[in-house]
Amino acid sequence: MAWKTLDQMDLAGQRVLTRVDINVPVVDGAVTDATRITRIVPTVRDILAAGGKPILLAHFGRPGGKRVDNLSLQQLVPTLEQALGAPVLFAADCVGPAAQAAVDALQDGQVLLLENTRFHKGETKNDPDLTAQMAALGDVFCSDAFSAAHRAHCSTTGLAALLPSCAGRLMQAELSALESALGNPRRPVTAVVGGAKVSTKLELLSNLVEKVDTLVIGGGMANTFLAAQGKPIGTSLAERLMIDTANGIMTKAEGLNCTILLPRDVVVARRFEANAPHETVPADQCPEDAMILDAGPESVAAIDAVFQDSKTLIWNGPLGAFEIEPFDAATNAAALKAAARTASGDLISVAGGGDTVAALNASGAARDFTYISTAGGAFLEWMEGKTLPGVAALEA
Ligand code: 3PG
Ligand code: MG
Repeated sequence: MAWKTLDQMDLAGQRVLTRVDINVPVVDGAVTDATRITRIVPTVRDILAAGGKPILLAHFGRPGGKRVDNLSLQQLVPTLEQALGAPVLFAADCVGPAAQAAVDALQDGQVLLLENTRFHKGETKNDPDLTAQMAALGDVFCSDAFSAAHRAHCSTTGLAALLPSCAGRLMQAELSALESALGNPRRPVTAVVGGAKVSTKLELLSNLVEKVDTLVIGGGMANTFLAAQGKPIGTSLAERLMIDTANGIMTKAEGLNCTILLPRDVVVARRFEANAPHETVPADQCPEDAMILDAGPESVAAIDAVFQDSKTLIWNGPLGAFEIEPFDAATNAAALKAAARTASGDLISVAGGGDTVAALNASGAARDFTYISTAGGAFLEWMEGKTLPGVAALEA
């Protein structure tokens, strides 16, 4: 890789400005999923162990360039302290006198968290003045926010031009997992792409058919593909305007010897509702008054057979309406199959993006996957084959 890691930096006594993504879900003041916080622990721990002073820079939500009290990072201090097992001090601003005083007072073994970078308008504009103010607080820049690397902001890209820079442990882990899944994978490689819309995953599908041997399409977007094949889809969620696009992707796949696997049977219901009365029908027999809410058991068997022959799997998006039971069945069953193949050492499985992690956690499959990315949008952009500015900045 073209970038440095913490191992190549001399951190003793150095102030290490560390960009992390601790944009975790918070409900009524309580962190409901601390995954992103626990995943930065190795980086902070290694900086401390090397005698460095970790100064954490992060965003929280989208405050739009002004102070928004309920988006203060201060509320995450207890969760951070618990995860890190070290005292975490907090500064009420990420630049200026308050930040400088906190940095100056930082003792060995302590961690400093600076206030939400997005309280400043300049952050999301990659404003050079704001970047320079941030840079004044540190000696080294450590970028550990892969999940924010699709943003070209002061704290994700700007700082890399002003300070000696390196990737943190999470950034390293994310990049090497993604590289092993799509960059230089063991073949055959299979991708599972689900979720509601073709329109939001168009570039992703188009890039994947160039890279994978089998592309499994599920969720709402599969309906658009079924419609493109002339199959009736009743009242199913679908994007009729994307039918030509879906056909284009199928033609492209054929030309590249990529097999697209669509549902063979589907679970249909009359209402989008948990436990709505439902039946399983062949994929070309959706009744006029019914909607497709999940893939059926034959589809799952076909997916299992593909997994059985695959050496690498990359997964983004659920196969059905996983948020309402029992329409999470196909997602759960296929995920558990992938987990079992991974546990037996036969499959490298990488998953990420938005709802995906929630779906895989719900099935209990996530813990056996080779790698679960912390990234949502960044994972998608990476799967689209785009260069992430936060990664490119480290390579420069
Ligand atoms: C995320 O939650 O996906 C990242 O923290 C990036 O947040 P953003 O979409 O607000 O830039
Ligand atoms: Mg996002």
